[in-house]
Amino acid sequence: MSARTIVRKTDQLNPSREDIRLAASIIRSGGTVVFPTETVYGIGANAYDEKACSQIFRIKKRPPDNPLIVHVKDVEMASSLARMDSRTVEALKRSWPSPLTVVVNSLGNLPNVVTAGLDTVALRSPANPLALALISESGVPIAAPSANIATRPSIVLSSEAKEELMGRVDFIFDSGQTFFGIESTIIDVRGDVPVILRPGAIGPVEIRHIFGSVRFNHEPPVHEEQIPLAPGMKYRHYAPRKPLYLFEDPYAMITYCRNRRKDDFISLVSAEMAPMVPGEKIILGSEKNLYEIGRNLFHSLRVADRTEKEIILAHAVEERGIGLAIMNRLRKAAEGGTPPD
Ligand code: TXA
Ligand code: MG
Repeated sequence: MSARTIVRKTDQLNPSREDIRLAASIIRSGGTVVFPTETVYGIGANAYDEKACSQIFRIKKRPPDNPLIVHVKDVEMASSLARMDSRTVEALKRSWPSPLTVVVNSLGNLPNVVTAGLDTVALRSPANPLALALISESGVPIAAPSANIATRPSIVLSSEAKEELMGRVDFIFDSGQTFFGIESTIIDVRGDVPVILRPGAIGPVEIRHIFGSVRFNHEPPVHEEQIPLAPGMKYRHYAPRKPLYLFEDPYAMITYCRNRRKDDFISLVSAEMAPMVPGEKIILGSEKNLYEIGRNLFHSLRVADRTEKEIILAHAVEERGIGLAIMNRLRKAAEGGTPPD
């Protein structure tokens, strides 16, 4: 792992050519680069370079059976990695770049570490000028998982990227906050009807607009083996260090906080819930704009972790649009069960 990390303050909407050239030369020579996308920060390496991609797994402490998303410039670059039917090609031409990842049949020209030995590959073209410039300048597809260490909340701020990855990667783009704050939606487009493997920044309604139809892959209980679930979804994920308890019924959270004798909890709440919940809290945003809640979620989990409080509480939001992804992340991050008395 690299002891020295180059950090460059770069505007993600209008990135400096010089910084992009430097980062791209690091990608081409087998290094690792942390960069913003429109969803979360990623740790990227040349997708064709087995050693560089293995390095990502080591840095993240990621299990080897959890494949990486490969970031491409456009549909043409995607076609150099995957076999796609004309419906998929047309749909992607209309919708990329966007936070939409497709699982497609791989051409088999990527190292096994990237795809975890599967015969499919997950591809996306990120709607972020810096990320797209980096891919173009590198001239190769960039394999990049979310930049957090495995099991931790995803990284949406460059300050958090520096905190977590300084000295472990070769280059960090210090580019502030990402736009959505929630990862891309992953869909398997190999069958007749696209299947959502991981809800994300793009909702099912938009996907139906793009592909004409869509269905959910209802996650099986953890003990049940089922393919094709996004393999990463079986792991504990997105979790703060302190126990997080999720109230599926927001009103149960109000009662719990009012009755709790100790002042040892911090709550993540919507603006609407805030006046009713006693104790220390972080307001995520209004339930009328779930994008706002999504944007603040991962950062707030990290902020809550840094407080003196013992436990973190959160409540459900409506499962529509990006709310589906918010609830998916909260459920994975939570301990399960009810909080202690
Ligand atoms: O928004 C995003 O997607 C971010 C940014 C950096 O692009 N990336 C991201 O990567 O969330 P990661 O590694 O944290 O999550 C990738 C997910 C994992 O759950 C993995 O199992 C799944 O994608 N995945 C990768 N390849 C797959 C494949 N061939 N079939 C099914 N799932 C796959
Ligand atoms: Mg991740």
